Amino acid sequence: MKRKKIVAGNWKMNTTKEEAEKLAASIVQSSQAFQGVEKIVFPPFPFLQAVKTIVNNTANFFVGAQNCNHHDKGAYTGEVSAAMLKSVGCDYVLIGHSERRQYFTEDNIQLLSKTEQALTNNLNVIFCFGEQLNERKNNQHFETVKKQLHGVLNFFPKNKTEQLVLAYEPVWAIGTGETATPAQAQEMHAFIRKTVAEIFSQEITEQISILYGGSCNAQNAPELFSCPDVDGGLIGGASLNADEFCKIIGSFG
Ligand code: 13P
Repeated sequence: MKRKKIVAGNWKMNTTKEEAEKLAASIVQSSQAFQGVEKIVFPPFPFLQAVKTIVNNTANFFVGAQNCNHHDKGAYTGEVSAAMLKSVGCDYVLIGHSERRQYFTEDNIQLLSKTEQALTNNLNVIFCFGEQLNERKNNQHFETVKKQLHGVLNFFPKNKTEQLVLAYEPVWAIGTGETATPAQAQEMHAFIRKTVAEIFSQEITEQISILYGGSCNAQNAPELFSCPDVDGGLIGGASLNADEFCKIIGSFG
């Protein structure tokens, strides 16, 4: 089986309901030519169901949530469970995004419980990780990424790796306009694939899509996506513009 090509849009805390619906409808419309690419959008929680209704009958098009709580249910005011996400039609959830790690102090213990909740509720996980700028400058980026991968994947059930997608997002590239060069991305993605082979197996690592995220746009996507170990992108800012996002979807050679 060939690895899936995926382009995912993380809308973060942006859009109103009307804007979210419009954006989803435009993406559905303009991405029809790219059947071979799996498309996923991650709207804010309140718009998941509305967006799901819009993309519902579109082939290879899925909706995901940007986060889920690490408990199954109960007295956790303001929180959203994996079961709730599944019940409104989500197929994916982002786990470990650097903004969650940084602003909401999510650690490996929480990320593991979130992963468990996601898998129990039949959600696919996009597990995000990546080094800080000072770590890259000090040449510690491989070590950091290896630690982040082991911290969660060591406990990820080997028989559920079909539900796993990885997203390498160097923190210094997120929202900064500074993208990893294709050479930097390929070097890290090859390292990730090797690390995942050590954790699971060579056969499994060959099946897992590894996305790049961090100031990815229509200009730099073609070169990034042509790297042998880059299987697509997790797009932030550029996913809020349907034309730009669809150009990124069409960037595979
Ligand atoms: P930008 O594309 O805005 O840099 O964000 C990347 C990201 O964080 C996607 O999850």
